Amino acid sequence: MSKKVRVAIAGVGNCASALVQGTRFYNNGEEAIGLAYYNLDGMKPSDIEFVAAFDVAESKVGKDLSEAIFAYPNNTLKIADVEPLGVKVEKGKILDGVGRHLSNAIKLSNTTPVEISKRLRESKADLLISYLPVGSTEATRYYAEQALDAGVGFINAIPVFIASNSKWQQIFSEKGLPVAGDDVMSQLGATVLHKTLVKLLVDRGVKIDQTYQLNIGGDMDFYNMLDEDRLKDKRESKESAVRAMVSYDVPMRIGPSDYVPFLDNTKVCYIHMKGRYFGNVPLEIDVKLNVIDAYNSAGVMIDAVRAMRVALDRSISGPLISVSAYCFKHPPQQMPYNDAKKAFMEFIENKRER
Ligand SMILES: NC(=O)c1ccc[n+]([C@@H]2O[C@H](COP(=O)([O-])OP(=O)(O)OC[C@H]3O[C@@H](n4cnc5c(N)ncnc54)[C@H](O)[C@@H]3O)[C@@H](O)[C@H]2O)c1
Repeated sequence: MSKKVRVAIAGVGNCASALVQGTRFYNNGEEAIGLAYYNLDGMKPSDIEFVAAFDVAESKVGKDLSEAIFAYPNNTLKIADVEPLGVKVEKGKILDGVGRHLSNAIKLSNTTPVEISKRLRESKADLLISYLPVGSTEATRYYAEQALDAGVGFINAIPVFIASNSKWQQIFSEKGLPVAGDDVMSQLGATVLHKTLVKLLVDRGVKIDQTYQLNIGGDMDFYNMLDEDRLKDKRESKESAVRAMVSYDVPMRIGPSDYVPFLDNTKVCYIHMKGRYFGNVPLEIDVKLNVIDAYNSAGVMIDAVRAMRVALDRSISGPLISVSAYCFKHPPQQMPYNDAKKAFMEFIENKRER
């Protein structure tokens, strides 16, 4: 019999929708196109079970998770029917989860917040994923504390630094619980493409003089990110992933650039690089990437969730180094993509401790 992973979600937005749908899409064992691993340490995507979910939007709280993932303002593609899951979305504490833009777009639920750690215990969750909006610093810390209190693992999909912060690493280690993050790195997203191109240029002896990465999209993630005050960690997360591939300073500007409503959950990214190769001769590269953003994170999260179950089974606590380097933009330890993937597999195969 295969192992199951019991997952709780904070933030039932487009990413949660893609994750839940993905576990249904890949349920027949035949069609594994688009997944890095169908079977990971004996677990298939359909072995992921959702046992609790928290949000603050009136359109989602009180609904079964299978309905809430399709509720306004979520606007990603539908790829699978999801049967009623018997998991009601419950109200979490708002804290700084809803910024000034989001508060114009959604109506907040006026029900009383539930006690998250109690619900995590009652639902027998193995781990909690934070899919909160960018800039939810206080709220992310709150959910991390609730995970610690309930004795479950914590996966931080957003650019607030928990797994990569030494203080939080120590708290999770002392509690005997694993933590992975921060800021999920999409399967074929702007970050992995940009850092891999930069690494290629460096390896081929090209001197990089400047680079930028502009991103636009039409979902609530991009609407929320119009607020520059919420973007400090997002820019740091995205830039640090690229910066780590070069040993010298490169002028760069990387981050969310605008909200274009009719794009819905499509994200368009423009990467530009300017450099010099043999004989000081100039070179320029321009790349356009067009993706449905939420699905770009779902496969990676399916891997991160299963890897955390492996860590829980082995009683590994503290930051998961290889899992975070492979699945996240701002991990405790940055690695070039190939090294991260190798380390991840070594961890799964028990050839590497964390
Ligand atoms: N490929 C990707 O889509 C990708 C990649 C990397 C990181 N991320 C990050 O993942 C996060 C989720 O992305 P998304 O597209 O699902 O965003 P989203 O805006 O669609 O969803 C966020 C959800 O969180 C809820 N929320 C707000 N405050 C809350 C609180 N205090 N408690 C519980 N719920 C709360 C909102 O109501 C909403 O349902 C974002 O921070 C995004 O930047 C996404």
